[in-house]
Order: sequence, then structure tokens, then C-alpha cells
Amino acid sequence: MAFRLPDCSGSVEGVHTVIVNDVVRAAWKAGIVIPAFNVPHLPMLEPVVRAVVDQDAFALIETARIEWQTFECYGPAAVCDAYRRFADPAYVRLHLDHVPVVDEDDLEVDYITLLRTAIDLGYDSVMIDGSRADLTRNIKTTSEAVALAHAAGIPCEAELGAVLREGAGPLPPYDELFASGLGFTSVDEAALFVAETRCDWLSVAVGNVHGAVSQVFRDRKKTQARLNLDHLAHLRQATGVPMVLHGGSGVRQEDVLAAIKVGIAKINIATELRQAFEDGLRTSGGLPAAKAAVYDRTTMLLRDTYAVSGMRRLITG
Ligand code: 13P
Repeated sequence: MAFRLPDCSGSVEGVHTVIVNDVVRAAWKAGIVIPAFNVPHLPMLEPVVRAVVDQDAFALIETARIEWQTFECYGPAAVCDAYRRFADPAYVRLHLDHVPVVDEDDLEVDYITLLRTAIDLGYDSVMIDGSRADLTRNIKTTSEAVALAHAAGIPCEAELGAVLREGAGPLPPYDELFASGLGFTSVDEAALFVAETRCDWLSVAVGNVHGAVSQVFRDRKKTQARLNLDHLAHLRQATGVPMVLHGGSGVRQEDVLAAIKVGIAKINIATELRQAFEDGLRTSGGLPAAKAAVYDRTTMLLRDTYAVSGMRRLITG
């Protein structure tokens, strides 16, 4: 299989025959999930990639603005550079996670420049996150982002609904949040949103929450989230595109496995691996042990939680 290789300098090598959208759609149809691992600390990238290769799985490596602002991954160019050093595109591809239209501090973001930067670097896919804007503006900004990504021949993920974040402002207790459906993606809006924006993958809120990044809460174990599978099934029916589960750390395994069968084709995991890395650094004081902890946790997720070991050939053709 031939690839479009990110070269971090703006030009493109190779032939673009297997694009990541084909892999995600193949996974979606086969009821297999593609894990997308965030690398909030740059040294996490190498052991994540090694685990994916050793498990003969397929995954995405991703980075989000909030991570390079909060942790040590230094931005899309640095992540792309590390990806180029360690990654084998037969096993992993590079995704730009969460480019917000309005950020967590309610500030406007120059999302077009960020998307262009990643596209010029050679990222394989991008995400626009207009979920803090109202529906009309989310549709407008997502449509712009989709046009930009498609012109470069790559897919664009978008978000509708509110995947809330632990430790960011007052949230009701989880059970209350789940029962009330607070922030859940609306089925009617989702049908309209996908039809209007032509986004390739849709991030949905069905009980999933993002792990904390705030100084006070970032070391705490995440609440075990559950997923409303009936709601997810309605969303699948309404949208007809692969769906993405953000806040993947610590979601009840039986719910994740069921959700994959109902249309979740990509799951984002950040907190679980970040905490493994940081705990490893704290307890051993050294990078080798921290990287070993990331390798072990990634292996466990691929093999035991998502059961995707050996699945690569099934979805990459
Ligand atoms: P967690 O940190 O909860 O795993 O969420 C990751 C995520 O959704 C990144 O976009």
C-alpha cells in the first residue's frame, strides 16, 4: 500500500492511495474501532507507536491545542516531527484533534490558521470543534473547515453536542449528568449538521466526558463513564457517518464494545496514557520507566479493552 507521508515541510511524498478516511470507514463497516492516542508529552509517541506495531493494530496519533498549551508536546510541528521519526504509516497516521472555534475560556480561536498549519505539515486528518458555538455558527465554521480539508484530500471530523470536561467549572454529579442527558448530541440537529457540513466523522456526546487537564484535577482517576446506547443508535440512523467517542479513558468496557457495534469507529484516549506516563516519571524518576508504562498501557488497551490486535490488515486492505 502506498501512502501520503507527512513530511512536516509542506510538500508531499509518495502516492496517496490509502487515505485514512477509507480505513476509518472500513473499520466502521466491520464493527472495529480505531483508537486515537493523544500524546500530551512528546516522549509518549514512540512507545505508543511501538505498541501499535507489536499488536499489528491500526491507530491514529493525535494532538490538540489544549494539550500543547497545557503539557509538553509543543505544537503540531513538534508532534509531526516526532511522528516522522518514529511512525510507520502502515500502522499509524497523524490527526489534528480539537481545533476549537471558541476555546474553553470562551475566547475566539483562529481555527483556519491552525487547520492550514496542520494541512501544510501533512497531517492525515483534522478536527474542527464548533461545539461551543450555536448550531448555525457550528454549521458555518465546520463547513469552512471541511472545504479546506477536502481541498487537501483529507477527512475532517466535527463535533456536535457538548462532551464536557471534568474539572472545568461546576458539573453535576456524573449519575445526574447521565440521567439528564446534559449536553447529549441532539438526533435532529445531527441529521441536519451532517447533511449541511458534509463532515466525514462526527464526535458525539452520549455520556462520555473528557478527562481533566486543570492543575487541581489532572492527577485524579477519571469517573467511569457510561454510554447511552439507544441514543447512539438513533444518532447512527440519523447521520450515516462514522462516529467518534471522545473522552475514551475509563469508559465502561462493555459500553465501549457495544458502542463500536453501534457505529463508533474512532475512540480518543488521552488521560489514561498521560497519567501512566506521569506516574512512571514520578515513581521511577526516569524516562525509560515512564515510556515502558505507556507501552504497557497502550498494549493493554489495544489487546484487552478494544480487542484490535491483529486487525490491521482487515481494515487497511
Ligand atoms: P480522555 O482524556 O478522557 O481520554 O479524552 C481524550 C479525548 O477525547 C481527546 O480528544
